[in-house]
Amino acid sequence: MIAPHAIQQVKEAARVEEVVGEFVALKRKGPRFLGLCPFHNEKTPSFNVSPNLGIYKCFGCGEAGDSITFLTKHEHLSYVEAIKWLAKRYNIDLPEEEQSPEQQLEQSERESVAVVQQWALNWSVEHLWTTDEGKRIGLSYFHERGFSDATIKTFQLGYVPEQGNAFATAAIANGFNPDVLEKAGWIKRREDGTPWDFFSGRVTFPILGLSGQPIGFGARTLKSDKKLPKYFNSPESVLYNKSRSLYGIHHAKKSIVEQSLCYLVEGYTDVISLHQAGITNVVASSGTSLTEDQVRLIKRYAPTVSILYDGDAAGMKASLRGIDLVLKEGLNVKVVTFPEGEDPDSFAKSHSSSEVTAHLTGNAKDFLVFKAELLMADSGDDPVKKAAAIHEIVESVSLVPDLVLRSLYIQQCSRLLQVNEQALISEMNKVLRKQYRKKLGGDGPLPEEHLAPDIAAPQPTIEDVGTTPQERDLLRMLLSYGHERITVPVQHDDGSTFDEETSVAELMFELLALDDILFDDAIFREIYLDYRHSSNLGNPVDAQRYVGHEQEGWRTTAIDLLTEKHVLSANWKDRHKIHVKRESETLYDALEEAVDILKERRVDRMIRERQEQLKTADELGVMALLQEIIQFSEAKKRLAKKTGRVVVG
Ligand code: CTP
Ligand code: MN
Repeated sequence: MIAPHAIQQVKEAARVEEVVGEFVALKRKGPRFLGLCPFHNEKTPSFNVSPNLGIYKCFGCGEAGDSITFLTKHEHLSYVEAIKWLAKRYNIDLPEEEQSPEQQLEQSERESVAVVQQWALNWSVEHLWTTDEGKRIGLSYFHERGFSDATIKTFQLGYVPEQGNAFATAAIANGFNPDVLEKAGWIKRREDGTPWDFFSGRVTFPILGLSGQPIGFGARTLKSDKKLPKYFNSPESVLYNKSRSLYGIHHAKKSIVEQSLCYLVEGYTDVISLHQAGITNVVASSGTSLTEDQVRLIKRYAPTVSILYDGDAAGMKASLRGIDLVLKEGLNVKVVTFPEGEDPDSFAKSHSSSEVTAHLTGNAKDFLVFKAELLMADSGDDPVKKAAAIHEIVESVSLVPDLVLRSLYIQQCSRLLQVNEQALISEMNKVLRKQYRKKLGGDGPLPEEHLAPDIAAPQPTIEDVGTTPQERDLLRMLLSYGHERITVPVQHDDGSTFDEETSVAELMFELLALDDILFDDAIFREIYLDYRHSSNLGNPVDAQRYVGHEQEGWRTTAIDLLTEKHVLSANWKDRHKIHVKRESETLYDALEEAVDILKERRVDRMIRERQEQLKTADELGVMALLQEIIQFSEAKKRLAKKTGRVVVG
């Protein structure tokens, strides 16, 4: 844990142009810096760094953030690692929060287990290469498997002699505490306390952490005795958490980033064989099915995972459910299958590198399509089975967080399953409602924005597209000029006027509250309410709060708004024939106008809603509705006159 005040100190010290400047050549251009974007390929620079705002933004690919975001995205550091990086760069002492005795104990245990694992790694590698037994049994086994010397060295494969306690004897003689050796998984003890080697007579596959340090081992027997477990794996320890580690990640991470793709295989030998065949962006989840933490780890490096399946159809179906979890994390999932009886390891051995690459790219199927095909083939002509299969697929689709992607999947599945798209959407909305209720614990209605749009509903007309642009303009004004003082003419009851000083933010709150107006856009609304809440409490709000916010939606929205090139939307100028002075000079006018336009559009919407209700209302209802429509129309005309819009009808 890093103390919050230290984090604050680091954030304040970090200069975005210096941090980014360590990785990107930047040229000063007025108040900003410009360079070639490190996040996409470009020949002319569109990567902007603004020291004033403390942010960077690429106008080519849209990547944006502050110093910390840059380090997490460019260097793939976690938040805490980024803070530590900055602290080092700016010579700031990061006092660790006071450790409890248990934490201290864990820390020292972690360190001693780490030392054992490194020592054991060296020991096993040495035994593979330099002892007679190691060469005769271990090394020749690897050679038989087709691993080259270079590969064996890269993956630091090793060997533990058959004699039952060679390792234990050496390690204890070296001064290691048997308790620590046992925690590290290298020895076990008999009742009388004598130690024996857990991995004796096995070849070893070290499992490395992200920075290449050994955290655990897999050890394969070379005997064909079916009763012996083929692999012994290190137990979990303070250092090794199975559900958070991926075998091969240290060797793969750079190429996963370069390819924007991560291959996932079953085991150690699949990783190594593919690597040797030139496919280096590959990791294994080592026997277990993927966990949420592993998925997040992959997502730090690439947006897509391609799962290489060697199982039979039954085995595949069993593992399908596990993959749904990957969808939920917003990772794209592809599936590659292999010919009967082949796995990635054997396939890599019996084919040339280019054939392997061709197979992996040519046979990658989108996971949901794969699942749909598999389940449909299975249910044949049985309508009940078919319905169950459709339900299951729709459930998977509903886990995809991206709305656009989700609707593309629905379209695709509709074609594949020969089911009407609308039927799939209603089915999915049912599933979504259920999930939502489960999450809330109550049974409130599901907010519209979570549901797939009903395609049977009439398409919105141009007038109907909502008020997003207006909300955008207002929020941008709030973030850019919220603090600016402005003078507002106020009218007394007796008609006399006087000037009152206020801030842009306060005036905006007042003008919107007057008609109970809130933003429709969920993120805009959240930021607006947060801003209003904080300033009502008397805390000055800085746009930086949102730019550096941990919630990604807030962050990207704030950065977008603050870096917008146009002062007022072009739309406005053209449609309203308004001559716009520099916005900050005419803040009061700009704000009032933005609010009026938003109100006008909202009133317009209310009118149309009531016109719609007219169609089904009874006689009394019609009267009430008509009255409201007349009132709203009056209001609309008043607003339109102010904003200079012509109201037709
Ligand atoms: N595995 C394991 N424990 C076992 C068996 C398998 O952890 N008892 C994991 C290992 O990660 C292994 C992967 O599952 O790499 C695949 O298993 P398998 O193909 O049986 O292992 P190989 O060593 O490739 O054996 P073979 O030479 O028979 O293919
Ligand atoms: Mn295998």
